[in-house]
Amino acid sequence: MRYGHFDDASREYVITTPHTPYPWINYLGSEQFFSLLSHQSGGYSFYRDAKMRRLTRYRYNNIPTDEGGRYFYINDGGDVWTPSWMPVKAELEHFEARHGLGYSTITGERGGLRVESLFFVPLGENAEVQKVTVTNTSAAAKSFTLFSFVEFCLWNAQDDQTNYQRNLSIGEVEVEMDGPSGSAIYHKTEYRERRDHYAVYGVNAQATGFDTDRDTFVGAYNGLGDAAVPLAGKSAGSVASGWYPIGSHSLDITLAPGESASHTFVLGYIENPQDEKWAPADDAAGIADKQVVNKTRAHELLARFATTEQTDAAFEALKAHWTELLSGYSVSSTDEKLDRMVNVWNQYQCMVTFNMSRSASYFETGIGRGMGFRDSNQDLLGFVHLIPERARERILDIAATQFPDGSAYHQYQPLTKRGNNDIGSGFNDDPLWLIAGVAAYIKESGDFSILDEQVPFDNDESLAESLFEHLTRSFRYTIDNRGPHGLPLIGRADWNDCLNLNCFSNEPGESFQTTENQAGGVAESVFIAAQFVLYGAEYAELAERRGLADVAAEARAAVEEMRAAVLSHGWDGDWFLRAYDFYGNKIGTDEKPEGKIWIEPQGFAVMAGIGVEGADPTTPEAKASPAIKALDSVNEMLATDHGMVLQYPAYTSYQIELGEVSTYPPGYKENGGIFCHNNPWVIIGETVVGRGAQAFDYYKRITPAYREDISDVHKLEPYVYAQMIAGKEAVRHGEAKNSWLTGTAAWNFVAVSQYLLGVRPGYDGLVVDPQIGPDVPEYTVTRRARGAVYEITVTNSGAPGARAALEVDGVAVDGNVVPYAPAGSTVKVRATL
Ligand code: GLC
Ligand code: GLC
Repeated sequence: MRYGHFDDASREYVITTPHTPYPWINYLGSEQFFSLLSHQSGGYSFYRDAKMRRLTRYRYNNIPTDEGGRYFYINDGGDVWTPSWMPVKAELEHFEARHGLGYSTITGERGGLRVESLFFVPLGENAEVQKVTVTNTSAAAKSFTLFSFVEFCLWNAQDDQTNYQRNLSIGEVEVEMDGPSGSAIYHKTEYRERRDHYAVYGVNAQATGFDTDRDTFVGAYNGLGDAAVPLAGKSAGSVASGWYPIGSHSLDITLAPGESASHTFVLGYIENPQDEKWAPADDAAGIADKQVVNKTRAHELLARFATTEQTDAAFEALKAHWTELLSGYSVSSTDEKLDRMVNVWNQYQCMVTFNMSRSASYFETGIGRGMGFRDSNQDLLGFVHLIPERARERILDIAATQFPDGSAYHQYQPLTKRGNNDIGSGFNDDPLWLIAGVAAYIKESGDFSILDEQVPFDNDESLAESLFEHLTRSFRYTIDNRGPHGLPLIGRADWNDCLNLNCFSNEPGESFQTTENQAGGVAESVFIAAQFVLYGAEYAELAERRGLADVAAEARAAVEEMRAAVLSHGWDGDWFLRAYDFYGNKIGTDEKPEGKIWIEPQGFAVMAGIGVEGADPTTPEAKASPAIKALDSVNEMLATDHGMVLQYPAYTSYQIELGEVSTYPPGYKENGGIFCHNNPWVIIGETVVGRGAQAFDYYKRITPAYREDISDVHKLEPYVYAQMIAGKEAVRHGEAKNSWLTGTAAWNFVAVSQYLLGVRPGYDGLVVDPQIGPDVPEYTVTRRARGAVYEITVTNSGAPGARAALEVDGVAVDGNVVPYAPAGSTVKVRATL
């Protein structure tokens, strides 16, 4: 069952009913100011950091769900309704929400009035702009009142939810009914002391009335669905003093039949230099010293959206910006679902994960995790082609949180860019992801100079070394921390946060990740070993290109040693082992009744080329190669119609020596859920051994556009990936959770764009190596790289093991690399296989 449809030409998902199984959201903003916005107008806004600079309030775990957002109410002769359906829930004759790239529109119609609200964060602005267009669709003139509503958060979102003894006394606002561009409400809580920022909520018209006190607007013991002021049809003019400050304007509007009126509301964040915080004292105007906020910057902001034409121009600029961004990679094939995921939604989600890391979504509260070292490096992989300069900046920020021994802070705060001491370090996969991120950046941009950037360790400038030295420390950290089988020690956890082999916890509530209570453990990770083979080789390549032949040779020898260790000590007979536990016992082995086989080492090892010798699918001997055996075992034991589960069989009881993985009921999250992030590793693995058909089949199982028809089962947005889909042993197999903020976005973009469609940047040229199977016999990829454009037309038999023969501008070339052409040129490539 569906709840809407894709509008490919507009690059929008159109939701045609408010009654989706869960709020389906969008993100506004991709620079400093961000909003989360559901299809029924729920959500909140923040400036840069969802914890420290929250502009509006949102209640997670609320009943009803998703009540709280920016709302417009209509009182039409006593009929009170909200065009977003929530929160009044009055029946609508027509409802439509369109989520586009950095904007959404929500339209509701009732009783002869149609209200369309457009929400977006304009480029270069720290504000959410809301353009509300009301049309009289009836045959008679209509007079009605429109009310706006936002609820302010007292900035620190965590404190806001916990510290009522203080917070209920500090709320302060100012109201300006006849400002230069209309009426505005200023939220200035804590501005009197250390804060240098306030929020403004304005409308480009002289409002009829206003409210800033929530209890007055809503009425004691009412909800937003029966708020007193809209019901009364008249603003009360309340001025908040403590309690709960809000912003609400009212506008009395009269429309002739068929007539429309548009108003622009702006919710903005304003920062003033400390010495410009206040309006100058002015006895005549009744302004006392340090009492009235300096509104100059707010007035300038509101003036930029004073007319509908200005708002429309800003909106067009945003759309043009996305057209430009997305022109870096696009495909035209016979599969419209493939095209819409590749050309629009997957890239869009990569932008969001790059910006948000794992901070703010409808599953992440914005007050928990900061930027993850591991997560942000992986997010880069799907983002770097969009804006390489921003990837560069991010890499340098991340690298500065590395420790001198090569280990790293697991997380850092976006506002301060400092490592997070609560979590600390000890996740032994972290260092190697830095190599992955840097290699991807250089291949995309050709900018080797980043390796010479001086970057601090532990944010201490006096410890600065070149970025290349950081990579060396990452590489060395893995070699220097190996266990009895020559495999890397796992530390607190590797990629799988929930495989905690050095934490034996019996204490409810204790952290599985940061409580290390087992000393002298020898727990080793086959996953990190595979990661080392893949990224160690990248490191060697970078060393070589820096003219460090000895370093490169030594690194390659270490990689070969690790490869051998994986094949001798990391192999179970039909698949790769997962790890060795604290006592040196195997994890991920057929010898155990549960957790026999884990997905991560299968995908990663094959991706790294471990055990691929002889894996040519056209020969019978292939079946004997470890790579094919491992992939076939995945197919047999982990694959379901909804994707591949993380491990199988799931643990049915708590295993103290394994940690958090065994805390989840079977089939959820890391305990046998379909943890979508790792599915693309197997997908890529299948392309490595030349089985494109299998790879594409797996891709379709988890990719949201292909799941749209089962939206009632999947439950979450059909346009973005979710972190997890419940696995085959779960009570609710096929149901997704945790949409948007997941490494799945970046990795699936890598899988589909670089391996299935097969166009990936190398150091010297674009590698063209399609492996998508027979379902997509013909397609064209347009790829911008280093300023040139490549039009790559693929004719594809889909035969197992077939590899493309290339013609570049009509001339046959050997191998699969199309050399980089000068910026400005267009190169035509034909690939046939
Ligand atoms: C979450 C974390 C990520 C981790 C994964 C598997 O997605 O953000 O860092 O690798 O879970 O545990
Ligand atoms: C990852 C896992 C989650 C775990 C968390 C701990 O996000 O997905 O299950 O609780 O890491 O940090």
